[in-house]
Amino acid sequence: MKTLFIFLFVIKLISAKPTSIVLWHGMGDTCCVSFSLGGFKLFLEKAIPGVYVDSLQIGNSTIEDLENGYFLNPNTQVEKVCKYLAEHPKLKDGFNAIGFSQGSQFMRAVVQRCGHTLPTIKNLISMGGQHQGVYGLPHCGALMHPTCDYIRQLLNYAAYDTWVQHALVQATYWHDPLDEETYIHKTIFLPDINNEVFVNKTYIQNLNNLEHFVLVKFDNDTIVQPRETEWFGFYEPGQSKKMLPMQETRVYKEDRLGLKKMEKEGKLVLISTEGDHLRFSDKWFIENIIKPYLLN
Ligand SMILES: *[C@@H]1O[C@H](CO)[C@@H](O)[C@H](O)[C@H]1NC(C)=O
Ligand SMILES: *[C@@H]1O[C@H](CO)[C@@H](O)[C@H](O)[C@H]1NC(C)=O
Ligand SMILES: *[C@@H]1O[C@H](CO)[C@@H](O)[C@H](O)[C@H]1NC(C)=O
Repeated sequence: MKTLFIFLFVIKLISAKPTSIVLWHGMGDTCCVSFSLGGFKLFLEKAIPGVYVDSLQIGNSTIEDLENGYFLNPNTQVEKVCKYLAEHPKLKDGFNAIGFSQGSQFMRAVVQRCGHTLPTIKNLISMGGQHQGVYGLPHCGALMHPTCDYIRQLLNYAAYDTWVQHALVQATYWHDPLDEETYIHKTIFLPDINNEVFVNKTYIQNLNNLEHFVLVKFDNDTIVQPRETEWFGFYEPGQSKKMLPMQETRVYKEDRLGLKKMEKEGKLVLISTEGDHLRFSDKWFIENIIKPYLLN
């Protein structure tokens, strides 16, 4: 009897291929170089034997991938990724999705806009994403990229100009709490994804189809402002000091994304970790993300 159980267990081990994983990198980063997401992909492959990991490259080369993170309209990026994922032979049985920084809100857009046309997306993990947008780019230094400083200046005075919206990715999730109306009506990406312009029920349905939507906040984040946006919190409208937790924001209170239901069903998971933007240890990731969400 015991032998039989051991045998069945081994069979299960052999036959159960772990769920594939798709990664979307952040601003100033690329899919595949070894010291960034390329290295993270190798880490996942080692931690979850047999797993297939696809780190999305937006564009046809590393340089394009880097540039597109600043300059390619996220609506176009999301559309391209939707098409790519739908046709991907290795994702046919479903997958888990992990977004890093702005890649988190772009991955959420993929889930909401085309989840119903894709294989099952089981869990969406947001690592330091900006789900209510940003108001400030306080610390470009850590990115070591001159473009960042240029962008900061441009955003501070022209984020909602039409040409900036179409030229600069970061403007499409720029959220000025002193001018909510302009934010909602001039920003070409985030207000749509947050159902702030009108409510698209498909977005709610697709998001709710996830098993879990995990939001990781970096408590000592010096790049994202305000860092509460990583948990769907934001400034109270009309000023830029007082912070509202997710439950007090318009998106939640008016139930524009179905977050209340997800929270009640235990699908919405808010976790935080000490450290600056996207700084976490392998051990932390194994315990808090891999074991609970990526092993089946
Ligand atoms: C990659 O190249 C193909 C064919 O040359 C082109 O159609 C496509 O737009 C390019 N992708 C991006 C994101 O630039
Ligand atoms: C709502 O979202 C779905 C999925 O992306 C899209 O096909 C549909 O056109 C949207 N509805 C409206 C009214 O924009
Ligand atoms: C992170 O910030 C908290 C206070 O918010 C502080 O107590 C802690 O020492 C900081 N940790 C690191 C690693 O900087």
